[in-house]
Amino acid sequence: MTETDTAVHKGLAGVVADYTAISKVNPDTNSLLYRGYPVQELAASCSFEQVALLLWNGELPSEQELADFRAHERAHRALSPELKAIIDALPTTCHPMDVCRTAASVLGAQDPQAEDSSRTANLAKAQKLFAAMPAVVCYDQRRRHGQDVVAPRDDLDYSANFLWMAFGEEAEPAVVEAFNTSMILYAEHSFNASTFTARVVTSTLSDLHSAVTAAIGALKGPLHGGANEAVMETFVELGIRADEPAADAEARAKAWMDEALAAKKKVMGFGHRVYKHGDSRVPTMKAALDAMIDHYGRPELLGLYNGLERSMDEAKGIKPNLDYPAGPTYWLMGFDIPTFTPLFVAARITGWTAHVMEQVASNSLIRPLAAYNGPDERHL
Ligand code: COA
Repeated sequence: MTETDTAVHKGLAGVVADYTAISKVNPDTNSLLYRGYPVQELAASCSFEQVALLLWNGELPSEQELADFRAHERAHRALSPELKAIIDALPTTCHPMDVCRTAASVLGAQDPQAEDSSRTANLAKAQKLFAAMPAVVCYDQRRRHGQDVVAPRDDLDYSANFLWMAFGEEAEPAVVEAFNTSMILYAEHSFNASTFTARVVTSTLSDLHSAVTAAIGALKGPLHGGANEAVMETFVELGIRADEPAADAEARAKAWMDEALAAKKKVMGFGHRVYKHGDSRVPTMKAALDAMIDHYGRPELLGLYNGLERSMDEAKGIKPNLDYPAGPTYWLMGFDIPTFTPLFVAARITGWTAHVMEQVASNSLIRPLAAYNGPDERHL
């Protein structure tokens, strides 16, 4: 077989690149399983810490395993003075994803086990990244707004502490629950672009932090993780009017969408490479958004949400993806828009690092072919 006589699969669409036992996306049944468990069931009854251990280890933790992990996570939340100094040296105008990418790289450079790719070392590195990334995200959001940095609290679980570090006040239980749900839904999604990037890097026998750093770069793009920010930019462009009746907001949103589609615009937060009849994660995230809309008393946002969704469905039959309900949920909680994709990073570290370990355990260098379409051979 040569590089010219094979079929080209642009964007690798439809290509099955390897096996994975971590998650199963089934677009026909509109389901997503993590290690066999429906993600909706996990979101309804598990903490994000439990789901992280499930993704890494293949089974849900025992009570003792969970307690040990929670203690370990709490002990590794704080950022080193060196990492803080490096973040401080970055311009406050740079995208927070650049901060996350830099932080992942620095955490690798600081980790004494960086070059050890045994499962034990990779799991330890994954768990330290998991613990530290929320502090990176919150540190950066607060420094960009000229706010004092809030130290982690080791009497709070992961999600409650995340919100504490972001806002400097204890979040209400309903908000913690919605945040926990978003983390679980964002944790893992098979061979998406950033996870595949992590596997490509791992396949060269590079290290876990290099794989995560590269994955963060892939996630930044608006066709992937950056879509949750782009969704909110659309809402902002539409104009969020706190006292507007929901029906009026819906009508405005419909008119906006009709115009956007007539202008052949791609509207972020809709469509998916794998799901063509709706994203399995959306109903659970939409329920979390509904809870936040009730909690903060902002029905006009539901009007905007419904208007865009209904108009897109009527015009093109394209359904929302997870980023569509996630964007306004994070906005209601008080995160600034550029922090939305870093929140996705904090969640997806679990999936990325589970895939790194799976790739190491059954490695084959990932190196596809290309069909050459340049000039025929010629000579000087
Ligand atoms: N808005 C408007 N039209 C869209 C659309 C969107 N969000 N998503 C897909 N379409 C249309 C395309 O314009 C194209 O129409 P055409 O055949 O008339 O040209 C058709 O649907 C197929 O789209 P395509 O981009 O080729 O499909 P894909 O499988 O390569 O793309 C995405 C999947 C996710 C890249 C795409 O749906 C998209 O760009 N969505 C917006 C970004 C986003 O929300 N990303 C997060 C994904 S979880």
